[in-house]
Amino acid sequence: MAGATDAAYRQICMGYGAAYAVSEMISAKAVEYGDRRTAALCDLSQDKRPVFLQLFGDSPETFAIAAKRLLAYGPDGFDINMGCPVPKIAGNGAGSALLREPEKCGAIVAAVKDAVDVPVTVKLRAGWDPQHVNAVEVAKICEAAGADAVCIHGRTRDQMYQGRADWAVIRQVKEAVGIPVIGNGDVTGAMEAALMLDQTGCDLVMVGRAALGNPWVFQQINTYLTNDCRILPGPGIAERVLTIRQHIGLLCAYKGEERGMREARKHVGWYARGLRGAADFRRRAGELCTLDDLDRLLKDMYAANCAASQEE
Ligand SMILES: Cc1cc2nc3c(=O)[nH]c(=O)nc-3n(C[C@H](O)[C@H](O)[C@H](O)COP(=O)(O)O)c2cc1C
Repeated sequence: MAGATDAAYRQICMGYGAAYAVSEMISAKAVEYGDRRTAALCDLSQDKRPVFLQLFGDSPETFAIAAKRLLAYGPDGFDINMGCPVPKIAGNGAGSALLREPEKCGAIVAAVKDAVDVPVTVKLRAGWDPQHVNAVEVAKICEAAGADAVCIHGRTRDQMYQGRADWAVIRQVKEAVGIPVIGNGDVTGAMEAALMLDQTGCDLVMVGRAALGNPWVFQQINTYLTNDCRILPGPGIAERVLTIRQHIGLLCAYKGEERGMREARKHVGWYARGLRGAADFRRRAGELCTLDDLDRLLKDMYAANCAASQEE
């Protein structure tokens, strides 16, 4: 997820049992032009495995050049973005706009498959809008072009991130293709993950927004699925605070304290959700500048919530 699943957060999520992780989306064109800031997004040297690099773009040739070049970073595979709805991307023919050109989707997959010798997956939406729900058609074309798996987000581009994801589309794709299908959209915890697997027959579930500030969701899902529907309670405040510190410590180690702490603000805001004093911690998260600021905030977060759990 752009702006969220950088190396530091991927490491935390994999530590809690995510089966694999995917980078933030990377512009194939920027890779072709050798953009230095883009190169930082591709660094997988700190990652647990497997980890995929996700590319977005609109030209098969550019995708192929970029994927070939990015092999130097040692990804376990490439994911092709056919789902991003934001105007800056879709307005330029990339992301979800590719769904309106199914043949080009196939050409992109074929070009990347030809260029690299690692697995290539595709992430797509249900369709462009309710009148053009074509995930089954696009998934079949991608499979024929050599895709190793498809991930279906059951919303149309029109929906952006609103409304419910339509899991029936995921089931239809699963019934139509032979490659693994990853279901995505509205999995917020262990029971939803089990429901999606059950209702769609998909092979894996992908968690997006529910993982923000909540890397424990992967452990909860795995425990539920492998341990007779056991529902793991959320982490206690001590584990929560230690995980936040570890995550933001890694973020600063990889990006430097100034930038790391700027990026930490949103993560700490997400982590604060549901805690006693959340509104105040979110406000303070927005002002974080140093790791010392974070340590003070975490000390207060621990104290407020430790006291809260003793009162219960
Ligand atoms: C802030 C944000 C950034 C995202 N960035 C990406 C991205 O870079 N690549 C991608 O395939 N999907 C991206 N997504 C979409 C999610 O991966 C996911 O498909 C979507 O949120 C639906 O799943 P959910 O209901 O579990 O959140 C992003 C979503 C959000 C909210």
